[in-house]
Amino acid sequence: MVSRRGLLRYGGVASLGGAASFGGIALGASQAQAAQATATGGPADERFWATVRAEFPLEEGLIFLNAANVCPASRPVVEKHLAYLRDIYANPSFENREKFAELEVEARQKLAKVLGAKPSAITITRNTSESTNTIVRGLSLRAGDEVIITSHNHPSNNASWKVLAKRTGVVIKEVPTPMENVSAERLARGIAGAMSARTKVIAFTHVTNTTGIRYPAREIVELAKGKNIWVHLDGAQSFGMLDFRLSEIGCDSYATSMHKWPMGPLEAGVLYVKDGRQDELWPSIVTAGYSELLEGVARFGVLGQRDDARMVAAGEAAVFLDRLGMANVEARALGLAAHLKKALTAVPGVKMLTPMEAALSGAVVKFRVEGKNTQELGRALWKSHKISGAVTSRGDLEGLRWCPHVYNTRAELDVAVEALARAVA
Ligand SMILES: Cc1ncc(COP(=O)(O)O)c(C=O)c1O
Repeated sequence: MVSRRGLLRYGGVASLGGAASFGGIALGASQAQAAQATATGGPADERFWATVRAEFPLEEGLIFLNAANVCPASRPVVEKHLAYLRDIYANPSFENREKFAELEVEARQKLAKVLGAKPSAITITRNTSESTNTIVRGLSLRAGDEVIITSHNHPSNNASWKVLAKRTGVVIKEVPTPMENVSAERLARGIAGAMSARTKVIAFTHVTNTTGIRYPAREIVELAKGKNIWVHLDGAQSFGMLDFRLSEIGCDSYATSMHKWPMGPLEAGVLYVKDGRQDELWPSIVTAGYSELLEGVARFGVLGQRDDARMVAAGEAAVFLDRLGMANVEARALGLAAHLKKALTAVPGVKMLTPMEAALSGAVVKFRVEGKNTQELGRALWKSHKISGAVTSRGDLEGLRWCPHVYNTRAELDVAVEALARAVA
């Protein structure tokens, strides 16, 4: 759903990086337009999104479709980041850097607002890998305890649990992620079927980076309710793209990276641990500044000298998302993904690996072209049209991954699909 409130909020921030005001478009939106916007996957007027696009200093001619890997940052984020970097390098004194204690608290508050969590449950790490490993290494598990994972989890999740299992005798139960006939019920049933009285952890991925399947996070959390099972959610492909509140999902922990869909700085991530469960975790890194008395999850963000400018930029990325309104971001990203999927399926030979249904996917779009060499295709599209996506060459996951986000236009997607059609003709 497109949030009128989000539009108004964004419309009210005309000074964002010197962009023109969106107010005229937003305030003029009638109910009918709003309904149409919902149907088309974003505010009906493409000019709104053209103005958003203008906030991204993207290289001319680049068709950037790799949000699942690294996103461009918007001008306000880049400028804030650079301003604080310059400040630190011009004056690295303790006295000048004192201010960052407060700025870090503010950044956490901004992130917490967009994530739908209490600031005390949020800490800024360096990426999803670090956040997830804090959980894997931090829980007190014993030989024989069972951890449920899914086969399409990222290595920062699956490989990490398997290393732990080797050391401790924890038992890993890997539930296959289906490639066909995907349904929310089937995804939840797979996990339910692996549960036993010894299950201590369920670790799964909100939206997978492999085929873009969206797991029914709330339903899976429900399965674990009252059983003293820790539910860890990898949100590297959901924060900054889907509109959700962690407090409503109810997972015990959540990990994400700021440089993907949130369009924030590189090497900044978030770890969320639900209030009431934080004391169950042991820290993996203990260094100056660590204290058990530190509030909430903050003690897991004490990682040695930090890049304070990056943390401020992470907060600024949250502000940018909040100004757009997460409901609008989701509607736009999913609308573009729907447009892309539909156009791709019209290209002869294309096999879609991502479910067509919006409820079962996000804006990660994965497909392959039967009989074509994926590597060569990816390279050819980069050469001919500067289309930046991702290529997987492995077995049943082989394919191209194109991920549209708010800075993309429908016209760009059409150019990309046309280029593909020509390349495979
Ligand atoms: C689902 C998922 N989890 C975790 C990661 C790891 O993210 P990072 O390298 O930022 O730690 C990725 C990276 O692509 C991912 O897609």
